[in-house]
Amino acid sequence: MSGNLATVSYIGATILFILCLGGLSNQETARRGNLYGMIGMAIAVLATVFGPQVTAAGLPWIIAAMVVGSGIGIYAARVVQMTQMPELVALMHSMVGLAAMLVGYATYIDPSASAGLAGAEKAIHEMEMYVGILIGAITFSGSVIAFGKLSGKIGGKPLLLPGRHWLNLAGLLLVIYFGREFLHATTVAEGMTPMIVMTIVSLLFGIHMVMAIGGADMPVVVSMLNSYSGWAAAATGFMLSNDLLIVTGALVGSSGAILSYIMCSAMNRHFISVIAGGFGTDGGAPMSAGGNVQPAGEVSPILAAETAELLREAKNVIIVPGYGMAVAQAQHTVYEITQFLREKGINVRFGIHPVAGRMPGHMNVLLAEAKVPYDVVFEMDELNDDFPQTDVTMVIGANDIVNPAAQDDPSSPIAGMPVLEVWKAKTSIVMKRSMASGYAGVDNPLFYKENNRMLFGDAKKMLDEVLLALKS
Ligand code: TAP
Repeated sequence: MSGNLATVSYIGATILFILCLGGLSNQETARRGNLYGMIGMAIAVLATVFGPQVTAAGLPWIIAAMVVGSGIGIYAARVVQMTQMPELVALMHSMVGLAAMLVGYATYIDPSASAGLAGAEKAIHEMEMYVGILIGAITFSGSVIAFGKLSGKIGGKPLLLPGRHWLNLAGLLLVIYFGREFLHATTVAEGMTPMIVMTIVSLLFGIHMVMAIGGADMPVVVSMLNSYSGWAAAATGFMLSNDLLIVTGALVGSSGAILSYIMCSAMNRHFISVIAGGFGTDGGAPMSAGGNVQPAGEVSPILAAETAELLREAKNVIIVPGYGMAVAQAQHTVYEITQFLREKGINVRFGIHPVAGRMPGHMNVLLAEAKVPYDVVFEMDELNDDFPQTDVTMVIGANDIVNPAAQDDPSSPIAGMPVLEVWKAKTSIVMKRSMASGYAGVDNPLFYKENNRMLFGDAKKMLDEVLLALKS
């Protein structure tokens, strides 16, 4: 493939990636957006593999690596559960970071990569490698820790080392000092020591940053690492002089930063403190994700048949799905119930919290899969004022996102996080299996409210029973 054809293909792929991101911003165009992304990626890979930078001798190696990589990718995509997606995403981010690190080292060792460079050009090239490895190392170790936390292999409790901000500052100064040493090195062997020290400091910084973050704030960390992985890819693009990688990395980096900002607003956290790490850890009770906190009151249980009765008599119903709906895979039954009630003239709507479930858009994906019409699915802000005029709210496997303590208890770990005010409806029904806490590990005063009922059991099983009772 000629250089010109490769450039044209890269421009085409870039346009497709932009169209992909545009499409993904809306549920109705998301499928098309994905398709654009897949076509863009196929063009990008083909144009790179058959482009002028790859020699015939290198081709078998690349194809062998692609076969192994694709095999692992296809296997992972088939076996991973929807609820394990965030862990998988964190693991993928770590791979981008690792790749940036390895490319940085390889570029530094390869004499042909800097052949003919001198003066400012050489310094810029070395800066690219230094910064690329730095971002890559932080992304790699931070994502591995995020994977551990999300999969429950590492506890959700934040690790707060004494003087941690000073430790971070010392790390930053070390990185700057060794950066200077690196730029002044005259041989590869001389530059290797500062590079290795910086890599170790960056790896430790990534571990420290994510370890210091409380379980409830992990959604922001995942999207932030997504952004970091984009910048790591852009840095790799600079090192390899690959324009497409620079543009794609910048797109991922900036869209990840925007998503982080949106998540911060959803959780009432400050963007700057997120970037600095160690946020969301002040005050509050220690978290024990998914643990059993001591129930603090009496609850009123309800049966499926009584739930069906309340729904039948209602005029306005709001359904609030959460992580438990994903675990139980109850979305199809939810849709059948919605369809049944709508046919009876009942106004049924869905309220989606920005951090419901375990990944951005988790609930939207499940509802779309079950073919719930988009026009009855609303964001939290769009219908939070409507709860007082609502007869029944059905909370399906959600907990933290409907916790009134976020508003009423300033010492709560989730204090200040906007929540869906389901308790303002005439009756709220919470479906879950037990009194166990949600992801943030805090008790939920909603369960003890007078107008609240608990429908205990697996969400899918209970909804099947509700549907049966509705139809009988
Ligand atoms: P959670 O607060 O985690 O509550 C989910 C509830 O579902 C649990 O209390 C659990 O109670 C119940 N459940 C589990 N399996 C169930 C089943 N088979 N049937 C019925 N219920 C079941 O979920 P949420 O309200 O969606 O809030 C999300 C939380 O995750 C927030 O704290 C958020 O910060 C965090 N988080 C979000 C993300 C993103 S990006 N969305 C990423 C990481 C973390 P039982 O065990 O009693 O059934």
